[in-house]
Amino acid sequence: MKKVLVIGGGGREHAIVDALSRSPQVGKIYCAPGNAGISAQAECVAIKDTDVEGLKAFALENGIDLAVVGPEVSLAAGVVDAFKEAGLRIFGPSKAAATIEASKDFAKQLMAKYEIPTAAFETFEDYDAALEYVKKGSLPVVLKYDGLAAGKGVVIPETLEEAEETLKDMLLDDKFGKGKVVVEEFLTGPEFSFMCFVDGLDVYPMTLSQDHKRAYEGDKGPNTGGMGAYSPVPIITDEDLEFSLEKVMKPTAAAMVAEGCPFTGVLYGGLMKTPQGPKVIEFNCRFGDPETEVVLPRLETDIYDIFSAVADHTQMPDIKWAEAVTMGFVMASKGYPGDYEKGYEIKFPENLDVRVYHMGTSLKDGKYYTSGGRVLMVVGFGADLQEAHDKALAAVESIECENLFYRRDIGWRVL
Ligand code: AMP
Ligand code: GLY
Repeated sequence: MKKVLVIGGGGREHAIVDALSRSPQVGKIYCAPGNAGISAQAECVAIKDTDVEGLKAFALENGIDLAVVGPEVSLAAGVVDAFKEAGLRIFGPSKAAATIEASKDFAKQLMAKYEIPTAAFETFEDYDAALEYVKKGSLPVVLKYDGLAAGKGVVIPETLEEAEETLKDMLLDDKFGKGKVVVEEFLTGPEFSFMCFVDGLDVYPMTLSQDHKRAYEGDKGPNTGGMGAYSPVPIITDEDLEFSLEKVMKPTAAAMVAEGCPFTGVLYGGLMKTPQGPKVIEFNCRFGDPETEVVLPRLETDIYDIFSAVADHTQMPDIKWAEAVTMGFVMASKGYPGDYEKGYEIKFPENLDVRVYHMGTSLKDGKYYTSGGRVLMVVGFGADLQEAHDKALAAVESIECENLFYRRDIGWRVL
């Protein structure tokens, strides 16, 4: 029986652990650092997800057969490179390949060079030059900080004053850190998340999902890491999917090979169905969160075989998806994505007819407490999205915690 180490401690990692626990080959799952919910299905070990040396030492000491990386910060810290150098098997991209997410500018330059459809853009280090460019263009305009910012580094000003303010934050006051800004054309249309298992030139699509990035109902409020998701996405046609695979994901994988940083792991295309067809909004170098929590429960193939095929560059098994569909609601701490308090007790009713993935919880004396911005992802299953929605919402309403909020309109585009 195989021993697996999952790196990370959010809802995405809970869903990965859950999928691995369905594999008949997997005997033992460790999760570093994990969380209170994960500890019911895996042994959590107190090693930070960016402590590359600590993770490697643990894997060597415990005879880990395969490691799986969740968060971008671990990838950007070079955990995959370190494991491989030590002769350990690991699923995820190298630090060089992870740049496709860590630097918006790298991703945009790559798309420009290889003619992958995306919004028109220019990158700036200088405040005055950026402001000049914004003044010449139209509003709203999209301003993206060129670095990891947990989904919060994108601002879409509607007025020139707001644009000026944001550029000041990003380029003069270094509010997100020292970095460049990508100024991008504003596109319109529904977004969808297209995650693929990628091994160099080989691209294996997952079923589609759709996230809800804004904090409040009606897609209002600040951008977050994601407030809910569902899978599949009926408004995306087979034609859109074919285009996205052939004209976006496969050419991007090939471009990474051509640039000398072949991608292995999950390549996440954040796409928008614009009036001119699908275009790339962003690439991520990992599973999406909360998309993973609605996609992996629908996976029927043994995920250990999929991870192994990518890690070892061997034959990929046929990837099969369940007919049953999923929809999930994120319950977040009041104030998120801004400041919030932690440590509020969460009470779960018995016999919930959903899967609850823990994003940020802790456990003390048998009681659960909030410990993060996003706290739970509650996923309903159904024959159709309405049924999945109703089950998930009923469960969310029955979970007691005085400091959580959620959007009730997850799935509004399709219900
Ligand atoms: P990103 O972190 O790049 O995915 O951006 C966060 C969110 O900002 C996206 O999910 C979109 O909703 C929005 N966004 C980003 N780029 C654009 C764009 N060029 N046009 C319109 N909306 C965008
Ligand atoms: N839910 C969007 C992301 O994982 O980046």
